[in-house]
Amino acid sequence: MKTKTDFFRMKQANEPIVMLTAYDFPSAKLAEAAGVDMILVGDSLGMVVLGYDSTIPVTVEEMIHHTKAVRRGAPNTFIVTDMPFMSYHLSMEEALRNAQRIMQQSGANAVKIEGADDVVNVIRALTKAGVPVISHLGLTPQSVGVLGGYKVQGKDAESARKLMEDAKLCEKAGAIALVLECVPKQIAAEITKQLTIPTIGIGAGDEVDGQVLVYHDVLGYGVDRVPKFVKKYANIQETISHALANYVADVKLRRFPEAAHAFTMKEEEWVALYG
Ligand code: KIV
Ligand code: NA
Repeated sequence: MKTKTDFFRMKQANEPIVMLTAYDFPSAKLAEAAGVDMILVGDSLGMVVLGYDSTIPVTVEEMIHHTKAVRRGAPNTFIVTDMPFMSYHLSMEEALRNAQRIMQQSGANAVKIEGADDVVNVIRALTKAGVPVISHLGLTPQSVGVLGGYKVQGKDAESARKLMEDAKLCEKAGAIALVLECVPKQIAAEITKQLTIPTIGIGAGDEVDGQVLVYHDVLGYGVDRVPKFVKKYANIQETISHALANYVADVKLRRFPEAAHAFTMKEEEWVALYG
């Protein structure tokens, strides 16, 4: 399994880091087999798998439940689990306890938390306690209500300067990597240059140390509209819909099951019973 040391080495060697989300056993298995460097059990789970309309309802229990399945599917991949909405804000004690539960119960190798400001103290405390933390800046979906929607962040000089400052504070507090979501490529590139820790972009351009995408977006699976920054590599949804429609039709029209799908008793056994 790759570790923090490998990710730092990859940054230095200018070798792209590939991160992909996964939420269950089969997605994790396929992600590991494809050679992704780290798996993110993102709280996007709430939207793409659980059907919530934001990440806000997601709980620590749900993150643990899904991370356990991901670990079983990807035993040899570095797994990062999102700490969900408000699970690291109420008090330092509660933040530490929630991270403890995730680390001890789920098989995660690191946690990811959104924001800087007051969260910087949480990054420092978790790091001191031995919990590797990945920071997440730019568009931070847990703050969607405060941000006023899912919009590009850091577009003007002032907010880009704040983004740079926050990135440095997260690094200084001990974050082992930084996810940059939906920020202009120039500021993402500059942050990547000025930081020692690897940056992982999603909608942050190509001059970052790695990329992360949501599994279902990559596959075109269950998501009707994907954001501008996504590249869709398949249309699994179409394949699934087609297969399911055929299954339904086959049963209705008695084309399934066929003889090959059935089990039979030996003739003499049948005769002994009802012959
Ligand atoms: O929850 C998630 O999938 C994420 C990525 C989009 C970075 O946080
Ligand atoms: Na997330």
